[in-house]
Amino acid sequence: MARRGVHVIVVGNEKGGSGKSTTAFHLAIYLLYEGFKVASIDVDSRQQTLTWYVRNRRDWARNRGLRIPHTTHFHLPLARGDSVRENHRADFDLFRQAVAEVEHDADFLVIDTPGFDTNLTRLAHSLADTLVTPVNDSLIDLNVMAQIDPVTGEPREMSHYSRLVQRARSERLAIDGKTIDWVLVRNRISMLSSRNMRQVQTMLERIALRLGCRVADGIAERVIFRSLFPTGMTVFDPLDEDLLGGLPSMSHMSARQEYRNLVSALHLPTAEITAAHKAQAPADSDPVHKFIHMMQTDN
Ligand SMILES: Nc1ncnc2c1ncn2[C@@H]1O[C@H](COP(=O)(O)OP(=O)(O)O)[C@@H](O)[C@H]1O
Ligand SMILES: [Mg+2]
Repeated sequence: MARRGVHVIVVGNEKGGSGKSTTAFHLAIYLLYEGFKVASIDVDSRQQTLTWYVRNRRDWARNRGLRIPHTTHFHLPLARGDSVRENHRADFDLFRQAVAEVEHDADFLVIDTPGFDTNLTRLAHSLADTLVTPVNDSLIDLNVMAQIDPVTGEPREMSHYSRLVQRARSERLAIDGKTIDWVLVRNRISMLSSRNMRQVQTMLERIALRLGCRVADGIAERVIFRSLFPTGMTVFDPLDEDLLGGLPSMSHMSARQEYRNLVSALHLPTAEITAAHKAQAPADSDPVHKFIHMMQTDN
């Protein structure tokens, strides 16, 4: 699939519950607040967590009369036909259409992927300029990247997911000569330093060396991430007391800072895109972009 212009961020990991959808949504909204045009695609046709996030946000904003930014969002239909082959075909077509629609218009495209391997998951990975893999602070989660030798502690064999990424990398190289910048992002980091945490950190660094990816310090374990989903709010939105049940806390401020640090660790081409914007249309600086365009095909 030919693609120019938009910078694609894919959030992927075969481990469910590692924080893919939460990270995808927060990255997308953060980039909107930075003044970029952001599109999002939910490839997880079963759970559709990102899509629900986007919907909840739209409904909440409408209900409260809030002027907050939204992504241009696409999702795959939940309603399935009888033929698996035809369903895959339809998913592929929708995905292609979505990418074609935003590739010259959006600055960033954030793609959330499911915790299972499908052709579409593979295609999405091969389009990534930046691949973000959230990893929980647990040795079990590391096993999803590579099997670890119990004696030496060295990564032994690449996991199914790591091989999927390596294939996507080769495909990408063959298509347009570009490389995928793969970043493992620690998520739900425990606030308390522990032996397990230090072990995870050391292992992650070894795995990263073996897989040719980077490790970024991500986000701590914070209750606030679980409470925001029903309203589709993020830690970047102006959260009122009503919503929070109190004033924004230190934890909330720290979460913002962690995301800022994370985005800077991702080395996204924000400066280049900003420069291109300035050169193109100095008047077009409204950070509140197009309202959500949903594919209403699943109801
Ligand atoms: N940093 C965090 N702190 C606390 N809870 C988190 C954090 N990140 C994610 N979660 C919670 O973990 C669960 C799984 O997150 P989700 O983004 O749906 O994962 P995935 O998409 O990988 O399945 C959700 O309940 C979410 O609210
Ligand atoms: Mg998810």
